Amino acid sequence: MKRKVTKAIFPVAGLGTRFLPATKSIPKEIMTLVDRPLIQYAIDEARAAGIKEFIFVTSRGKGALEDYFDHSHELESTLRKAGKEDLLEALRDTNMESGAIAYIRQHKALGLGHAVWCARRLIGQEPFAVILPDDVIAAEKPCLQQMVEAHAETGGNMVAAMEVPSEKTSAYGILDIRDDMGALVSVKGMVEKPAANTAPSNLAVIGRYILTPKIFQHLNRLKSGAGGEVQLTDAIAEEISRSNNVYGFRFRGQRFDCGSKAGFLQATVAFGLAREELHEEFIQFLIGMTATRKAAE
Ligand code: UTP
Repeated sequence: MKRKVTKAIFPVAGLGTRFLPATKSIPKEIMTLVDRPLIQYAIDEARAAGIKEFIFVTSRGKGALEDYFDHSHELESTLRKAGKEDLLEALRDTNMESGAIAYIRQHKALGLGHAVWCARRLIGQEPFAVILPDDVIAAEKPCLQQMVEAHAETGGNMVAAMEVPSEKTSAYGILDIRDDMGALVSVKGMVEKPAANTAPSNLAVIGRYILTPKIFQHLNRLKSGAGGEVQLTDAIAEEISRSNNVYGFRFRGQRFDCGSKAGFLQATVAFGLAREELHEEFIQFLIGMTATRKAAE
């Protein structure tokens, strides 16, 4: 029987060095796109996919992230008295049910694979999702929901995948495709950051995964191997070599790499323009900026 996916791991223990000095005191995941922190986009996507248990792998200095999900009774009562129903509604979206969130500590930033491994005791025998909140995906149907629906048919392990230009393959894990079925591909290998001329395809893995608990056995072995970071990609590659049940899923939507400055700015523009109340003023501003720059060139 195929098990439902009800747990998600959010690895948020990275150092976020690309956003220093901001990340000296603010977790990257609390940085805002328009008016919502990155983590809120990830939580909303997980909820839409039917996730009930939210496991955060955190580290030192991530207190603001943990506090973000606390109910703010004082603020809520002030807003209620002032009749600010719309703001109350926005706050309600951030409230999490008691017991729905777990925080696990990663004591040292030993890599994404290690961060996922830290959550092993909270997972049990069922498949689970992994969401990297720096990858923000604008989509009509949220990306993880698309994946959970596809996973109900395939079972096994699934990674979100998107086509990238050849000159960009060296920035991603790239899939070696066995069988291309359209949205779904079955995978016979995975190569980390290959140069353009050695990449087995243009299909890159991004930060959404549905994995089986067997991944923890591979992470265990990798962890006790040579020093350095423990890569999630290596554990998935190990699973590919042992089984026939790893799929790539071409999601429908636009992904923004909010772990990089350029990606974060692009997402800010896209999500700002998508807001009805901001659209007109913002687009006029952008048109004006572009015209001024063109004139100056
Ligand atoms: P990144 O590769 O973006 O690293 O991690 P980072 O530390 O967050 O950022 P930079 O590169 O220093 O700017 C991808 C995801 O894996 C998590 C991060 O929090 C992010 O969600 N991660 C990474 C961990 O949880 N632990 C780690 O040891 C490494």
